[in-house]
Amino acid sequence: MADHGLAALRWAEPPDGPVLVLLDQTRLPDAEEELVVTDVPGLVEAVRALVVRGAPVLGLAGAYGVALAAARGFDVEEAALLLADARPTAVNLAYGVRRAVAAYRSGGAAAALAEARAMHREDALAGERMEEAGLGLLGELVPGGGYRLLTHCNTGMLVSGGRGTAFAVARRAHEAGELRRLWVGETRPLLQGARLTAWEAARAGMPYTVLADAAAGSLFAAGEVDAVLVGADRIAADGSVANKVGTYPLAVLARHHGVPFLVVAPVASVDPETPDGAAIPVEQRASHEVTELRPGVVVAPVGAQAYNPAFDVTPPELVTALVTEAGVVSPVGRDSLAALCSGSRGAKS
Ligand code: MRU
Repeated sequence: MADHGLAALRWAEPPDGPVLVLLDQTRLPDAEEELVVTDVPGLVEAVRALVVRGAPVLGLAGAYGVALAAARGFDVEEAALLLADARPTAVNLAYGVRRAVAAYRSGGAAAALAEARAMHREDALAGERMEEAGLGLLGELVPGGGYRLLTHCNTGMLVSGGRGTAFAVARRAHEAGELRRLWVGETRPLLQGARLTAWEAARAGMPYTVLADAAAGSLFAAGEVDAVLVGADRIAADGSVANKVGTYPLAVLARHHGVPFLVVAPVASVDPETPDGAAIPVEQRASHEVTELRPGVVVAPVGAQAYNPAFDVTPPELVTALVTEAGVVSPVGRDSLAALCSGSRGAKS
């Protein structure tokens, strides 16, 4: 990812041995700090803490993590198991690990690194294709241009080897002079929208407005949203979409108000082995993420327990279209996804 010199993740080879350098997303937007990771346990900790996060870049982290273990002479198979289990929902993580391990088994450490680098390039290219396809689709669905787009969580350069997925489509619309406003849902509890997407939008000079998640309903009711653009952590074989918690309510609102609801994700996020939405493992996170705004800033009584699923699942009938690097799928369902996956089998390995 090359954007203002910052990268969500990069491989480096200082004299003491190879490392992974992560842009610490927990510190944004206050500080642009990098975290240097020298081994897989450190990377797993960073993944769980959301130092690096978002489905496509988790795939890259998995692949580079395997390459790191191999280059430093650790047990690669054990490292792979640790990495693949670091977070359960984004299918890309296990996919990245699998690809790098397969390369390692046939060609050693150099092959694992080459595979991670290949995935990095593929992800950037996939992003460009999704931007193109997404902008074309907006042109068809929203006559007149001048789009007011609502997005959730963060799906930009911070989650990608390129410019991202859903956010990248909005950015492309901006560059085409067609973005009237990007509505950025704050994305409680960890504020990936307010902290990260707003940071990216500001850097790109895009017209954006942050809103509390609970304000989305009145925004739709006021007729201020032309389309919703979100990413995905896993798309089951039936087309159910797991994405950041709060996505499903937006899909319901979009349907109620007759607004297109578009999911933008690489084919690697489609998981033919997960039959339906109920089979998607949804990560449950600690209560304190809800009961504290930041460490120590408490907003609930001491001892309060919180319901804190990191993701929710949107059923396929609420998805207007899925935009991938291999084309647009609409309607989204078992047959159309099977056709998509068989058509791009080369990319899935
Ligand atoms: O918990 P996070 O921040 O990793 O969740 C990320 C999301 O839900 C993103 O929307 C998703 O990974 C798509 S990124 C293109």
